[in-house]
Amino acid sequence: MLIQSLTLALGLLSLPTTHAVPEFANHGTTSGWVDVKPEAQGTKAEVTNVVYRGTTGLKVTQTFIPGYQDRYHSEYVYNNGYKRGDTKFYGFAFRLADAWEFDPPQSFNIAQFIADFGDTKCDDWSPTTMVYLRGRTLYSRVKTGQLLPGKPCPPDNDKGDCSGGKNCQNTREFALKTDIDGGVWYRMTFQITWKSDATGQFKTWINGTKVHEEFNIPTTLLDDNREFSFRVGLYANGWHDDNHQMKGSQGFRQVWIDEVGVGSEFKDADSDRL
Ligand SMILES: *[C@@H]1O[C@H](CO)[C@@H](O)[C@H](O)[C@H]1NC(C)=O
Repeated sequence: MLIQSLTLALGLLSLPTTHAVPEFANHGTTSGWVDVKPEAQGTKAEVTNVVYRGTTGLKVTQTFIPGYQDRYHSEYVYNNGYKRGDTKFYGFAFRLADAWEFDPPQSFNIAQFIADFGDTKCDDWSPTTMVYLRGRTLYSRVKTGQLLPGKPCPPDNDKGDCSGGKNCQNTREFALKTDIDGGVWYRMTFQITWKSDATGQFKTWINGTKVHEEFNIPTTLLDDNREFSFRVGLYANGWHDDNHQMKGSQGFRQVWIDEVGVGSEFKDADSDRL
């Protein structure tokens, strides 16, 4: 009896007194985001015909323009993605068009963390972690190195050269899933501890199954603790990065995004529960 009441008392003590509130949740609506216009002929819209959960979802598109030299962003932006030192969960559901052309492979980005480093004079907008498709494989990456105002830049735009206290950037990519299909929803959840030294961590789940887990790694640049935004949508980066050329024949690309969350617990970033 004594043991029972003791267990009960201890159990009650460990109950959380307040319910954690996700810092950001979007159920597939155009409200609550920073107002950022799509580039080129891109579109961003709230739709009701293709949704993951609830009554609305977000549809983003991009169209290839021959001869156009600039970028192709159609993204929804949440400004408080992370600052170095944070640990947060991020989640969203995405779906590629039924008839998505996977071959020949070219890079299409669907989520990223990015900040403006123009003041360092070594770069402008620098994305750290990105989530992107190349062929049927979904990848993510970490970016390490240093971007601090007042430090020398690497010569000849060699972003990887970190010698002598210079600013520098290095990326390392890893595959998350190799058999991505069109017309199917994928529920993405990330848990990231953002560190520039070897105390960071990076975990990813797809539809609740853990597909990536790394501990004791650097996961971001050494910076002055500035805020990175978290962006979801479509950034057809391959059309810009591959010498402004489109591979294959599908110059119109459609992606759907729904149930986006950021918070301190897994469920804040689980598209089935947020
Ligand atoms: C992920 O879950 C959704 C919703 O249950 C389902 O429609 C979809 O097929 C799943 N995707 C995969 C790759 O299993």
